[in-house]
Parts: sequence; structure tokens; C-alpha cells
Amino acid sequence: MNTLTNQILTNQAEKSSRQQFFDDVMKGLQASPKYMQSKYFYDAAGDKLFQDIMNCEEYYPTNCELEIFAERTMDLANAILVGGDGFDLIELGAGDAMKSSYLLQHLLEEGVDFNYIPIDISAHVIDYLTSTLPVTMPDLKITGLNGDYFEMLQKAAAGSSRRKVVLFLGSNVGNMPVENAAEFCAELRSHLSVNDMALIGIDLKKNPKTILAAYNDKEGITKKFNLNLLERINRELGADFDLSQFDHYPTYDPETGSCKSYLVSLKDQTVKINGSAPIRFAKNEHVFMEISQKYTVVQADSLALSAGFKTDGHFYDSKGWFLDVVWIAK
Ligand code: AVJ
Repeated sequence: MNTLTNQILTNQAEKSSRQQFFDDVMKGLQASPKYMQSKYFYDAAGDKLFQDIMNCEEYYPTNCELEIFAERTMDLANAILVGGDGFDLIELGAGDAMKSSYLLQHLLEEGVDFNYIPIDISAHVIDYLTSTLPVTMPDLKITGLNGDYFEMLQKAAAGSSRRKVVLFLGSNVGNMPVENAAEFCAELRSHLSVNDMALIGIDLKKNPKTILAAYNDKEGITKKFNLNLLERINRELGADFDLSQFDHYPTYDPETGSCKSYLVSLKDQTVKINGSAPIRFAKNEHVFMEISQKYTVVQADSLALSAGFKTDGHFYDSKGWFLDVVWIAK
């Protein structure tokens, strides 16, 4: 393909993802009640703010799961290796791959034959991983894929017939309501063959105060993380949100295990997005931003079953706050 054709394809791809962003934002803000899609949190500024969240005192999930990967590396590796050598290790939403790096390092030391295929919605993340991981792990065979999880999983599967082990860590499965998580896991299963595996990170129900504090940090980083999406809409879609006129409202309901965050309009106001018809926000109107669902172990196991997996192992941190499960496709 010549350079010009390439250039045109790139431009069209860019145009369509921007158009998709605009369409999704408009759809959410014209709905009642209003909502936004949390997958759009992660532009370069959002990636950075999420890093800050992971480093803040109250946000426990990352440290808990890091502990599991650091302390139980061999057990995790052995659970995966039960299925045999020669596989593709596919990570959905790889982020900085800090947790999975323990596993990668260990597998390399053991001389295991595998390809690491990180998939992330953020191009920034994929560029970072494919340029930095080979520096510390020169023997790592890595192919980064930037895009939608299942489209990229499809692409990865088309390029290889090897056994698949899918990592979905960080409690990312909690970013969906329970019914959607069940559909998601069933769709994941549909992309796998019998005896393929999944290693899923799930945040467990615990003291409600501990959970709420993690999404309501004193420094206000989580608030900034939410407001950054308005800023992103201003920047990328030419909108005129006044960030000072929206507040962040985090909630946790111990009955349902749903941790939800909202932005609340502090006055009657209208916002224009890229010359759209003005969108009205009433004083105290809320915009649903994100769910971080918490599970019991029993719920996690039934999620596996309903999606066509059998649970092969449970790995907990020392506080018992976080769970990594090994699932085998039935
Ligand atoms: C990246 C989706 C796992 O839900 O805990 C952190 C995102 N939002 N603080 C989570 C998040 C607010 C995070 N996940």
C-alpha cells in the first residue's frame, strides 16, 4: 500500500473514532437520566490521573492485586501451565502491565514458550508497553493491539491457533453492571476454545467505608478523574463545559455491591458541544459516570459458571479484599 492510501485510511479511522465519541456523548446527555461511558475516561490526561489514583492511599485494589502477583507468582504460573506450553497470553486492558510483569518475568525465567499480546483501548498505553517492556524483558515476544477488546481478541485469534490464556485484571470486570458482566464473560468464552483459560481480577465486598473511601480520596484525584472527561469533551469535541459548575458525588451501596459515581450540576446551565443544540442541565441534576461493582466469592463463581467456565483456583491478597480467579473454558 502506498503512503498516500495509508494516510487517507488513518485520517478516516481518526474521523470515525471522533465521530463515535461525539455520538456516544450526545446519546448519553440526551438520555434521562444523563450518563457518560467510563471507557472515555482514558485519554492521556485520564491515564495519568488513573496512575495517580492507583498511587493514592485510599485506593486499595491495585496494591492488593499487586501483592497477589508478587507473592503468588509461581502458583499463578503453575495454574496457567497446567494447560501446557506454547500459548498466547492475551491481556485485556493491560494498562501499565505492572501486575502481569511479575508473571511475564517468571514465565521467561522458566523458558516457557508464549507470546504476550496486550490489548488496550488507549493507543498511548500500547505504545508505552511495546516500547518499554522489551527493554527490561529482551526475550519477551510481544504484539500490542490498540482497540476494542473483542475486535482485537478476534484479530489475535485469527493470527494464531495456539492455546489462549486471557488476563482481565484490575477489577475491570467491575466496570459493568452484573448483568453486563455476565454477557461480557459469555462473549469472552465465545472467543475461546475448550481448555483455554481466563485469569480475572475481582474486587470483593468488604467494609463499605473502605470501598467508598477508595472512590472518594481526600486529595480529590478521583474527582479530577471524573471532571477530566468533561475537559476531554471540551478539548476534542469543542464543547464549553464549565468544570467549576459540576461536583463529584461517589456512592457505595453495600446491599447491591455497586459503587457508582456521578457528576452533579451546581446550577441551571446549558452546554454546547461542537455546535450541537444546547444541552440543558438543571440545578442538582446528576450525570452517571461509572460503576465499580464489588462481588462475593459465591457471585464470582456463579459468574464463571453462567459464562461457560469452571473455576480452577482462587487467589487472595493477605487482607482477603481482592480475588484473582483462574477459569477454564468448558
Ligand atoms: C480501572 C475500572 C478498575 O473501577 O476501580 C478508579 C477505575 N475509577 N477510581 C475502578 C476507577 C475511579 C477502576 N477500574
